[in-house]
Amino acid sequence: MNHVSARGSGRRTTAPRLRAALVSIAAGVVAVGTTVAIASSASAGTTLGASAAEKGRYFGTAVAVNKLSDSVYVGILNREFNMVTAENEMKWDATEPNQGQFNYTNGDRLVSHAQANGMRVRGHALAWHSQQPGWAQNLSGSTLRSAMLNHVTQVATHYKGKIYAWDVVNEAFADGGTGARRDSNLQRTGNDWIEAAFRAARAADPGAKLCYNDYNTDGQNAKSNAVYAMVQDFKSRGVPIDCVGFQSHFNSASPVPSDYQANLQRFVNLGLDVQITELDIEGSGSTQADNYSRVVRACLAIARCTGITVWGIRDSDSWRASGTPLLFDNSGNKKAAYTSTLSALNEGGTTTPPTTTPPTTTPPTTTPPTTPPPTTAPPTTPPPGNGGCTASVSLNSWTGGFVATVRITAGSAGLSGWVVGLTLPSGTLITNTWSAQSSGTSGSVTFRNVSYNGTVGAGGSTEFGFQGTGNGPTGTPTCSPA
Ligand code: G3I
Repeated sequence: MNHVSARGSGRRTTAPRLRAALVSIAAGVVAVGTTVAIASSASAGTTLGASAAEKGRYFGTAVAVNKLSDSVYVGILNREFNMVTAENEMKWDATEPNQGQFNYTNGDRLVSHAQANGMRVRGHALAWHSQQPGWAQNLSGSTLRSAMLNHVTQVATHYKGKIYAWDVVNEAFADGGTGARRDSNLQRTGNDWIEAAFRAARAADPGAKLCYNDYNTDGQNAKSNAVYAMVQDFKSRGVPIDCVGFQSHFNSASPVPSDYQANLQRFVNLGLDVQITELDIEGSGSTQADNYSRVVRACLAIARCTGITVWGIRDSDSWRASGTPLLFDNSGNKKAAYTSTLSALNEGGTTTPPTTTPPTTTPPTTTPPTTPPPTTAPPTTPPPGNGGCTASVSLNSWTGGFVATVRITAGSAGLSGWVVGLTLPSGTLITNTWSAQSSGTSGSVTFRNVSYNGTVGAGGSTEFGFQGTGNGPTGTPTCSPA
């Protein structure tokens, strides 16, 4: 992947910012730190964000902060999206241009814009071999390691409580068939630099999901196998990792892989979320449109694919503008790819395939962990033999936080809706819920199905999840048909 910018010139005006508060209310998405409610409204089905929210997902875009004065750009941003990623403004060169001197001006502008318009924020990226400030490029060894960890700590602390998910480490694996780590100054500080970065990020902001993010990992190949092995190892040793980001930069030389969904699923089976983090697909017309809908359907088919982010708004905003890879043309008009994306988001039957489905391929043989990951054990609760349902919880916990995955299993009569109740320990606070509507964030909480996962066939199962600070729930949850 060539990361040289090929961007076109964005149109800039000084017209007042448009606000789309209605969209954010419709999407039911509120600031980090509170529950993500899934509400239906008049806007549902007509914008990317609202339609994704109806399916318990977000739909985001990369934002270049210097375009927030462009009224066309901001109009689309506020109307269509409920998650934003800083395209460049939170990277190391932007946030720490001189060692120990931090500049959050542009990153803060993005966060403010997001919060004022009901959007959440993905943080990008804490540790990366590219876009390092010059002073860091000149460091090595333990000096660089310390500088990197200080950077992770400082930036994650500055944005604490405001970031849905951080790309903690970006693009650390080499292309080609070796499955090796990418050579970089960071890699040369020692193979454990990645887990050190994740631990520092967790300590700084326990409420943010922590992602590993990469490209050319979208299908099963030597590179994604190597990432898989690393994640499997991290999960087995308790290294804090909550998600894997799949950048999904596609073109004719790097098309949407036929095993895209299967690849996402095998990562979910390790007990963490997946996100599509930088989607763009070069091309035009129906071919491009079909490819976008394939990506959306793959994500919706996976319960823990929590959202999709496109890497820019208009084609002219793209880092590879000449490939016209985005959903809006240079004037901000919706393309066929937009229509197919929205249609795919609005399709009825999202599924929640069990996360315990075994991977479709043999896991890579490189450094297999000797102990199974603690959180991927399938719930053993048998299906109830009546018209009711049962629920069981699997927990991924760390000091100060947890992710809970709740599986609902239908009895012999099946379900057309369900309510799960559980009690959280004193001091525990839910910060994020997916694939369910929760009644609150602490104490005794009930979770109801959302539109796409209420119907469960006899003996079948579905899942929802939530993330919180404090300790995870104990005891067996209650489950009732609704
Ligand atoms: O802001 C300066 C400007 O002052 C200067 O005149 C100009 C001269 O080249 O450069 C401008 O900075 C550029 C910056 O984008 C902002 O436009 C950099 O040169 C350019 O290298 C930078 O490119 C970014 C690229 O990451 C850097 O690797 C792209 O915008 C950004 O879209 C791209 O994003 C990456 C993700 O972070 C990681 N995954 C791949 C993805 C695409 O490459």
